[in-house]
Amino acid sequence: MELCVALDLPSAKENLALAESLKEHNIWMKVGFRAYIRDGKEFIVALKKINPEFKIFLDLKLYDIPNTMADAAQEIAELGVDMFNIHASSGKVAMQTVMERLSSYENRPLVLAVTALTSFDEENFTLIYEKSINAKAEQFAKMAYENGLDGVVCSSFESRAIKNATSAKFLTLCPGIRPFGEDAGDQKRVATLEVAKEEGVDFPVIGRPIYRSDNPLAKVEEILKSL
Ligand code: C5P
Repeated sequence: MELCVALDLPSAKENLALAESLKEHNIWMKVGFRAYIRDGKEFIVALKKINPEFKIFLDLKLYDIPNTMADAAQEIAELGVDMFNIHASSGKVAMQTVMERLSSYENRPLVLAVTALTSFDEENFTLIYEKSINAKAEQFAKMAYENGLDGVVCSSFESRAIKNATSAKFLTLCPGIRPFGEDAGDQKRVATLEVAKEEGVDFPVIGRPIYRSDNPLAKVEEILKSL
């Protein structure tokens, strides 16, 4: 398991201070909408300056027509990030077009497909997708696997079934982790680290339990110890 810290603080200054406090650990940093829209490419450069060994996951959840997604994927590859994601519901042609566009890169970023957002509960998910979360997440994961993606974003509770339906090597990145049972906030399907471990999660993504703790470094070290 590799820890991925969500940098969701309200300013670049605060996110960079958090990264600075964690720089002795070569962990993954998740740059999401908030940080990327506000702080852009320079923010990624600044993170790499703090620790060149930080791995960057650009969490922009692309969803558009295939050609537009492939154009965006190419620009993301040019940024030199290590991983990004697209929505699985953008479909098989979008997946293929994105992977084809990235095929010329020697060191292309890992590409994950978002299955079901971890903030969905069963009722609200079914209203849109007309299937249970488990069934749909598995179907999306198979589609992503068959079309050459590297893994999926899912909840810890779907990780094992997805690996069984695809491959043990097919990556699962799971937000909604409350390492030691901290407050769930708006997340509906939260798991502890112990559950994530049992379910074979490759990347636990953790935001608020780290950046809202009194001592983020101590929290990260406690997490790393238990991985
Ligand atoms: O603060 P918390 O640990 O809940 O942060 C989870 C992070 O993972 C947030 O940045 C959120 O946008 C992201 N995320 C998610 N569910 C997904 C994909 C990403 O919660 N399916």
